[in-house]
Amino acid sequence: MTRRLDTDRDKTLCYCLGVRYGRVIDTIRGKECTSVKEVTRSCKAGGGCRSCHPEIEDLITELREERTAAGGIIKGIIGRVFGRRTGGSS
Ligand code: FES
Repeated sequence: MTRRLDTDRDKTLCYCLGVRYGRVIDTIRGKECTSVKEVTRSCKAGGGCRSCHPEIEDLITELREERTAAGGIIKGIIGRVFGRRTGGSS
């Protein structure tokens, strides 16, 4: 499966407003946007014909999954560190 996050950052995502993938990805990450409406408010992408909305929604989903995976890794590390410090099982 091809990830939308791997799309060339300089490629245009929203043609109506001339917004590129990199700008949209940075906006979703930086502002932790959870909806197309929030993305549009922050960087204008999606503010025209709306044909790019499915693409923006896919990016939001992929970034949410990325954050969830990173959170799981961090929880695992914290669990192992505290397990060792307290002498608990790991
Ligand atoms: S292509 Fe994004 S609003 Fe039209």
